[in-house]
Amino acid sequence: MEKRIAVLPGDGIGPEVMAGCQRVLEAVVDRFNHHFVFTEGKIGGCAIDAEGTPLPDATIKLCEESDAILLGAVGGPKWDGGPSQLRPEKGLLGIRKKMGLFANLRPVTTVKSLIPASPLKEHLVNHVDLLIVRELTGGLYFGEPSGRDGDAVVDTLQYTKAEIERIVRKAFELAQVRRHKLTSVDKANVLESSKMWREIVNQVAPDYPDVEVEHQLVDSAAMQLIRYPEQFDVIVTENLFGDILSDEASMLTGSLGMLPSASLRSDAVGMYEPVHGSAPDIAGKGIANPLAMIMSAAMMLRYSFNMHKEANAMEVAVQQTLEEGYHTSDLAIEKGTVLKTSALVDKVIEQF
Ligand code: NAI
Ligand code: MG
Repeated sequence: MEKRIAVLPGDGIGPEVMAGCQRVLEAVVDRFNHHFVFTEGKIGGCAIDAEGTPLPDATIKLCEESDAILLGAVGGPKWDGGPSQLRPEKGLLGIRKKMGLFANLRPVTTVKSLIPASPLKEHLVNHVDLLIVRELTGGLYFGEPSGRDGDAVVDTLQYTKAEIERIVRKAFELAQVRRHKLTSVDKANVLESSKMWREIVNQVAPDYPDVEVEHQLVDSAAMQLIRYPEQFDVIVTENLFGDILSDEASMLTGSLGMLPSASLRSDAVGMYEPVHGSAPDIAGKGIANPLAMIMSAAMMLRYSFNMHKEANAMEVAVQQTLEEGYHTSDLAIEKGTVLKTSALVDKVIEQF
């Protein structure tokens, strides 16, 4: 199958982890007889330097013409002092909004050999396998009015029924192909928007009779994630709650360099990026952990290209590499062999 992939390496370690990821994808292409066309574009700080804007029109056009987007990371101290329209993050928020990517998926799964790197006790994280589905283009981050008026300040939490329904349905569909459990997280004891959120979840639930639904209040959910994380399968929630809970959940398995994400819309197009940033402290040293980027590409195979066995092969290759004790220096585990980025990528490719 031929697929067009927009490759946006970005800044800092972005280009380093992207190069490794592309090498793994090429191995997948070889093994499964697909044809991927990679086209590179600029976003973030490198685009500010080259084009004077964090999101050049050519990059938007490239993304619109592609079947999926791979993104490394944006930002770094070089651009921190600039005016707000020249911030690298504007490129990231801009492309998510432009492409209508309303559903942000962050899976958190235990890898056995990495359990010692978790801040939680082993018996709590032995079998964590959850997926946070966060609404990404609405809610408090985009509501109007927003701003200051003298000593007063306002932010607006706004959703339409259609916006809530599409993210909730997406989450139900994802639960159907996982362990058939959906936890909807809201603050329905206080917020009107959450009351409507809960009503809509209950209205659409009969369309997914094979999925068990429960509601949790966000404060309680934050506590449950630490107390008993294995209870969760799919969690669906609005933008701000999802931002906070997904960062909290990302620490369960204890390794930022391991965590992938997908941002999806109703058709198959999606954007795939690691959860971590551009790590300027280690950029250029060839020691960045490429696994979050590689796992993001596996999500691309699964969610945009419907290539499930290929996605599984990539994920198994990563897990196998870790089980054999190979990892980069960011993982705080004593056993095993520390490798540089490209040597670790070689080990992953050897698994195919
Ligand atoms: P960060 O995720 O870049 O780094 C946090 C710490 O984790 C650093 O010590 C870093 O070396 C380490 N780290 C992160 N990813 C790693 C990897 N793959 N391998 C090994 N170590 C890794 O977050 P930080 O330091 O808060 O932000 C740095 C820059 O990245 C800032 O300019 C920030 O705005 C930007 N950023 C960009 C994001 C994106 O593009 N999606 C997300 C978060 C931050
Ligand atoms: Mg966040």
